[in-house]
This record gives sequence, structure tokens and C-alpha cells, in this order.
Amino acid sequence: MQALPISLDRSSQGPLPSQIAAQVRELVLAGTLRPGNRLPSSRALASELAVSRSVVDRAYEQLIAEGWAESRHGSGTFVSDVRGGTARSRAAPAGPAPEQRLVRLDAGTPWGFPRQDAGWRRAWREVSVAEPPRGYDDPRGLRELREALADRLARTRGLAVSADEIIVTAGTTDALRQVLPELRPGAIGVEDPGYRAAVETVRSSGRDVVDLPATLPISALGGAVAAYVTPAHQHPLGRVMPAADRLTLLETARREDALVIEDDYDSEFRYDVAPVPALAALDRDRVAYVGTAAKSVVPTLRVGWLVPPPSLLDAVVRRRDVTHSGAAWPSQRALLTLLRDGWIDRTVRAARRVYAERAARVVAALSPHAELAAPIAGMYSAWLLPEPEAVRARDAARAEGFELNLLSTYARTNKVSGLLVSFGGTTDVELDRALGVLGAALRRG
Ligand SMILES: Cc1ncc(COP(=O)(O)O)c(C=O)c1O
Repeated sequence: MQALPISLDRSSQGPLPSQIAAQVRELVLAGTLRPGNRLPSSRALASELAVSRSVVDRAYEQLIAEGWAESRHGSGTFVSDVRGGTARSRAAPAGPAPEQRLVRLDAGTPWGFPRQDAGWRRAWREVSVAEPPRGYDDPRGLRELREALADRLARTRGLAVSADEIIVTAGTTDALRQVLPELRPGAIGVEDPGYRAAVETVRSSGRDVVDLPATLPISALGGAVAAYVTPAHQHPLGRVMPAADRLTLLETARREDALVIEDDYDSEFRYDVAPVPALAALDRDRVAYVGTAAKSVVPTLRVGWLVPPPSLLDAVVRRRDVTHSGAAWPSQRALLTLLRDGWIDRTVRAARRVYAERAARVVAALSPHAELAAPIAGMYSAWLLPEPEAVRARDAARAEGFELNLLSTYARTNKVSGLLVSFGGTTDVELDRALGVLGAALRRG
């Protein structure tokens, strides 16, 4: 372990933890700190810098969250191997990169939490020694998990439901597939632009899709029997559905006797204001609430949750009892530990800090060239641009090994165009490189 050449500027506006984190980052980039080097204990560094230990803890947490350092249980905090990734991507040949090497800046990839995390390992150790249910168990999913989810929904989403009203799913589209057969015949409204997986799922159930406005009040459903919406964070444009529009939507659904399906995929990741309570909290009878672990854990866990309106609950449970659909038991059991031990809360808090910092960098780099569709939340941003410019920037990024999506690929009749720039699935270094490439391509335009 080495003493670190860090000096704090107490007259500066910058918070002390951010100053420490920034200087450690610079030491890593300069090669002064090398992968595998152990950082001083927070107690030692705090005493050296004459700050409280919590200041250093916050700085280390931030560095771990960003992937610059990793915590090894019982032995301290170590510098991660970040430069390997950068060196490899710098060495990438010009021209389209092979598919597997593309760094994805698409909307779906969340922040990569530290893989050495002790809480994560504990969850999977518990899976390995727990007794799986015999037979197919409760069609609603693992009871203790539903209890933990009920607690979390009340706490974080203002949604007071009992464990019996929650159904554990294999993710968002699984939830949608559970609800669709219970609706009377007819089309389903989906925001335009909107979530492509929902559109595909509706169409493959044999129903038509009605285009609903993504950023205007929904005051008519065009004959649709349900409206699939993302009120906490419109996907992909990013706006929060204002209170007045929420009431209009519920009123419209009541008038047309339709269901609202609320996809609440990343509502926890707000860093400007507190998360807006779930739409379902305003009308449990009219709204099917759909949540997912894809953003707070990983998409490949394939776990989500559905709170159907009371009128549909029994029918959905009965169908699941026959079809055995639902999330795999190991994933459910692991999620139970992650929730119970506070791992999810901690990860969401750490990720929020990472996202807030990255969002500011994205805005600084791209706002001279494009219009931000809505204040950034979650792990992606939507930038409005004429289609040819968006395509040029997307192609330039692709040639450098970055994959981004065009906004137009989420649109149906609405001719919106631009770029979706996610900052969840990259390292800070990769993000800065991607922003450099995008900025240069847009400047050239
Ligand atoms: C709008 C929206 N809903 C839900 C999800 C998550 O889906 P799932 O729970 O099936 O992983 C995503 C993932 O990107 C999304 O963009």
C-alpha cells in the first residue's frame, strides 16, 4: 500500500469526496496507480488528509461505482484493470468493428456493479444451499420475495399492495404476456415512439397496436382496450408524465373502459428530484403495474413483477398455474437476498451517483450540437436531430466500436428523429471516447 499524492482544495466548491475520487482517477490514468494496487485504508487516508473517514468512504464508493476500484471482502480496496479495456479499444482497427466488440450505448444496458461485491456473492451462495420448492410452487412466485417486493413498492413507489397481489414474472414482456389474454378483443395502445419489445409482444399476440402520443396528454385511445405507457420516464424520449396528463389518461381509460399498463422500468434512477409515485397508486382498479429487476440488478436475471388490478388477479394466477410460466427459482431466490440485505438499495444509490455525473458529461458534450428531448433521468438520454445527422453520428460511432440507436427506430407514425445515448453500459473512459466521436461527427455536420 502506498501513500497517495492527493491534495485537497478546501476553498473550492467541489465536495471533498469528489476531489479525492478525481485525483485517484488521474493517478490511475497516469499509471501512478496500477491495476491491483491496494488503496490506503479509508482510516489511513482520512488521517493523512485530515478529513473524516466518511469522506474517504464516499470517495471510494464513487470509484467502485464507476469501476475504477474494487472492494475485496476483508482485504481492502484495489485499483481495477480499467486501462486494459481502454488500450484494447484504442488499438481497434478502423472500419466497422466486429459485433462482439461493440460497446453498447443503447437504452437497455444498466451500470455494471462491482463484480467482486460481497453482497452479490452472498446472494448466490444462499441460492446454492437453499432448498428449492417441490413441484411448481405458488404460481405467483416465491412468497418471501413477494413480501420483500411489497415492502419495496410501498417504500419507493407509493404503492400499497400485499404480497398476495404481486406476481413475480420473468421480466416486463412476460408481465405483458400475462395480462393480454385477460383483456377483451381489441387493439392495444402504445406510445409512439415507444418500447419496441411491447409493440412486438402485442403484435405477436395477434392484436393491433394503436399509436398513442408520447409527449402529449392521452385523451383518446382510438378503440384500444388497453394503453401501454411509461409514465415515470417515457421510453425513449425521457419525459416524466405530468400530473395533469396522468389524470387525463386515467379519466380516458375509465371513459373507454380500458386498462392502463404502467411499465415502471427505471423510475428509481432519478437524480434531480425524488421518483414520481407510480400511476397505479392513483387507481389500483384501472392500472396493471409492471416492474423489473433489469435496471437495478441485470437484465439477464430475468425477474420482474406484476401487480394486476384486483379484477384480473385471479384469472392471471389461474392461467399461470396451468402454464407454469414465471421466473426461474434461482433468480427469484437470489433477488430475495439482494433485496433483504439492502444490496439493491445500495446499488441504486451508487448507480444514481454514477449516472448523475455521467449525465452531466453527456450534456456538456452534446448540447452544443443537438437538442435534449427531456431532462435526463435513468441511464440514457434522447437527443433530437435531423435523421441524416443522426445517421452520420451513429455510423461514425459504430466505426469506432460504439453501438447507439436511432430514435427513429422507436417511432411508428411519429416522425421523430435523433439519437439515444445511453451511459449505463460503458466505463467512464469509454463514454468520454464515445462522446468525443459523436461531438466530432456532429460538428462536421
Ligand atoms: C421501456 C422498457 N421497459 C422495460 C425494460 C426491461 O425489460 P425486461 O424486464 O423484460 O428486461 C426495458 C429495458 O430496456 C425498457 O427499455
